[in-house]
Formats: sequence, C-alpha cells, structure tokens
Amino acid sequence: MSEKYFQHRYLAHKYWGRRPWYAMRALIEAHTAPGETVLDSFCGSGTTLVEALATGRRAIGVDLNPMAAFICRVTITPADTDALRQAFEHLRAAVADEINALYAGDGEGIRPAHWYPTTELPVSAFGIMAKDAGMTVADLFTPRNLTAAALLWHGIQTIPCDPVTRDLLRFSFTAAVAQFTKMIRTKKNGTGWWVNAYRIPRTYRENNVWRSFENKLWAVVRMKEETNALLGPVSLSMGDPPEPNAACRLRIGSATDLSFLPEESVDYVFIDPPWAIKYFDLSVLWCSWMGFELPFDQEIFPWQQRFRRDMTQALAELARVLRPGKVLTLNFATRYASVLNEWREAIEATGLEWLGVTPLQQDQLSFVQRQHDTTLKGNYLLTLRKHGSPGARATPAEATPVTEHEIASMIHALLEERGPMTYDQLFQALYPALARRPLACDLYTVLATRFGYSITEGRPYEEGVWHLGEGNAAPPEASNHRVAPRMRGPRREAQLTLPFNGG
Ligand SMILES: C[S@@+](CC[C@H](N)C(=O)[O-])C[C@H]1O[C@@H](n2cnc3c(N)ncnc32)[C@H](O)[C@@H]1O
Repeated sequence: MSEKYFQHRYLAHKYWGRRPWYAMRALIEAHTAPGETVLDSFCGSGTTLVEALATGRRAIGVDLNPMAAFICRVTITPADTDALRQAFEHLRAAVADEINALYAGDGEGIRPAHWYPTTELPVSAFGIMAKDAGMTVADLFTPRNLTAAALLWHGIQTIPCDPVTRDLLRFSFTAAVAQFTKMIRTKKNGTGWWVNAYRIPRTYRENNVWRSFENKLWAVVRMKEETNALLGPVSLSMGDPPEPNAACRLRIGSATDLSFLPEESVDYVFIDPPWAIKYFDLSVLWCSWMGFELPFDQEIFPWQQRFRRDMTQALAELARVLRPGKVLTLNFATRYASVLNEWREAIEATGLEWLGVTPLQQDQLSFVQRQHDTTLKGNYLLTLRKHGSPGARATPAEATPVTEHEIASMIHALLEERGPMTYDQLFQALYPALARRPLACDLYTVLATRFGYSITEGRPYEEGVWHLGEGNAAPPEASNHRVAPRMRGPRREAQLTLPFNGG
C-alpha cells in the first residue's frame, strides 16, 4: 500500500466524505504557521484536526454528529497500546469461546441474552427503502450474529479497563459492526459496507463476529501506535465550553453556533459541509450501539429548504471568528445550479473576498464517484479571505444571471479550442467565470441538450467526453441516478434526481 493514500489513522474506522490527508496537510501548511489555530466546523472524522495537530498547529473541531466527535476523540487522544492489548486478552477470555461456539451448528434457535439496539432505521436514500419501513438496526443481523454482537458489546462494557481503553474497544466494535450484519455480499470482493445506505443483498455472508472484531482491533492498535507517535501527548478538551488552552478543542454542536469562540481568534478555516450524503442516516447503525442521539432536525443538507439559511449562518460565524486578512477554504462537490446558487448567496452574505477556485488534490476516486458517470468526479476548493481592514467587504457580485445561451457559447468556445472534454474538465474551466453570478440553468442540462457525448474505453473507470456535434452514445441519464432523499415539506423541482458522489 502506498503511504500517500493509506495511513492507519484513516483506515481504522469508516467515515463518509473523508478528504485526503495529504491535501489537508498541504492546505494547512500553506495558510498557517506552527502554533496558529485551524478551525473546521464540519470536521467529520477529523482529518483537518489530525493534520493540523501533526504539523504543530492548534485545532478546533465542531460537528453535530456525536459519532464524528467520537471518532475524532478516539483518534486524537493518546492511549497506552499495551493496556489495549491487555484489555483485549481479558475480553477474549470473557467472550471469545462463547461467541465462536455459536458458529458450531446451523444457528437455529439462537437468541440474544444481552442488550442490543432496536432503533428504527430511517426510510431514505441513505437508509432503508419505503417497502422496508419499520425495520430496526437489530433486523440487519442474523439471530446468531445479533447474539454474538450483543455478547461482545456486553463484554466490552463490563471487563475491567480504564476509560480510554474502553473507548478504543467500543471504537473497534463500531468500526467492525457493519461486518457483523447481513449487508455483506457473498462475492469475493464484497467484504465491506459497499453502498451508502442499509441494503441487504439477496445472498449475504454471515461473518464470524469475534474474528471480524479481532481483525479490526489490530487495525486500531496500528492506528494508535501511529497517532501516539505523530501527535504526542496532545491535550484535547470537549468541555462546554472547551478549555481555550487545549491544543485541540472539540465540540458536538451545529456549525451555525460558534459562540464558544471569541471574535477574530482563528487563523485558518477549512470546511467541507455535506453535499450528497446524509451523514446522520448513515450513522444510525453506529449511534444506536453507542447510545448517541442524532439531532436530525439540525443536520445541514443541500436538498433541504433551510440549506441557504443554515449555510449563511454557518459562514457568518466563520467570518466572525476569523482574524482579518486570513483565509477560509470551502470544499464543495455539487454540479446543480440550484445548490450552487444557494451556496453562492450564502457566501456573498459574509462579505468575504473571493480569491479563486481550484480542484482538490485527490488522486483516488471514491467507489460511487467511479460508478456514476454523471457525478462531479472532483471536489473543488473555494478560497475566501477576510478583509485586512475592519468592516471592509468584498466588491458586490454581479446580479445578472448566466443564461443557458451564454453557457452554451462558453462551452462551444472551449470545445472548439481544446477538443473533447470530460464533465469535470468543463466544470473546472467554466466555474471560475460563473462562480459569482446566479446560474439560470445546470451546466449538465446544457451539455445533454446541445452537445455530443462519447464513452471512452475503460468505462466506468473513465468518464465519457463531451464534444461538438452529434453524440455517438446516449448521455448518462436516469439510470445513473438514484432518487433524491425524501424531504419533509414542499419538494423543489431540482430535487427529483440526485447523483451520488463522495461528499
Ligand atoms: C463532508 S463531511 C466532513 C468530512 C470530513 N471532512 C472528514 O475528513 O471526515 C460533513 C460533516 O458535516 C456534518 N454536519 C451536518 N450538519 C451539520 C451541522 N449543522 N453542524 C455541524 N456539522 C454538521 C456531518 O455530520 C458530517 O460529518
């Protein structure tokens, strides 16, 4: 495995939308000096925080998902790996034989003797299908694996060990728990939770719970050895408010309220809000075992009525806490005019200066980015800066919308000059010129209705290209899309289809 892509600290526990650590580190080093403070108010599993701390910066992380905060806390907190190994041996002595014995027969008649979660799974594109409404977390397991998982969880909660070690055992459990479920395909390469939703395939594999847990535990030991060496005895505070002198301040809360931070106290901000994934739906499996409540009503998601209001509030808070002259980088991954328009309006409201748009350095695509021809393959970084002089604001944006005709002429000129281009190449070339104006239509719609599309060799790992004239392949349409998540309240036109990508 190449060191560039695979670091133990990012392999131990799954989280969706994790950004490449090397790109995060490059951004942090470009925008701050050692000792300065980096803030990520949608910090997820903590890539920004870990890389900031690894390079001698101070870090502040905020996320509304308690599971994200748990992953950050366990990853960052120094721990004694010998104590973990010892606790693991206690656990083995307490439950391994009993769990392994469950696999001796055909599994008939086995019923759990310990607590297990019965939380209902959400019906959504990221949860279960409507026909399965009422299904609970427990229904994801065979009776035998539910029995084994409940016994293992009981063992983790009760063996003698210190709180940091117990958290590492819980972390190993949640990191492995999808492997205990019926979501694992029988195919040779289908070893993981392969889809961004709860789906039980027609044929599934029933993994041995103890063996899957043990494999994960060793991955967690490797992670801890790596983070202990990388971060040293780092101080972390999750108090309310977090201790201002801690090297890492971590808060479970909404990005819309950063009142625990004083004005002009942060040197660099990186944020990566949700674009195409409902993190809370996907976290129900983990949170149900951990006993965490998910505040669904405050989750930010572009396909919701209140997206612009929430993002405006979140960005206003960031503009408030940023020091004058300092930079804010926003990661985005959406190609929809309606979302881009709301996003742009939220940014304009902050009065921050637009410095430019660049692609995020991301050498590997996610599974979904590879599978779906029409998703934006790349993530983009928008760079903004707070004015050096107090009260100064960016020059107001142009209010004239970019029309379909204007976009078509721009695409035409580009294709004439450069020849066939992928969707991402076109987006990258056009977006900087369009970023500060309202978009009257989707770039993709203009392409699909007015330009040719060809599929290159190697699909789906290669994108098709757009060119002038008639296409020799049908542009990817509905078959590459899944239906957008159901929203409460009135639906908007643009919500009808939603291609999935890595965000
Ligand atoms: C794209 S992910 C961030 C992933 C992160 N960059 C990483 O490397 O793991 C977006 C995050 O926004 C969080 N989120 C959603 N609504 C939020 C809110 N109102 N306030 C703060 N965080 C929120 C989700 O829980 C999710 O962890």
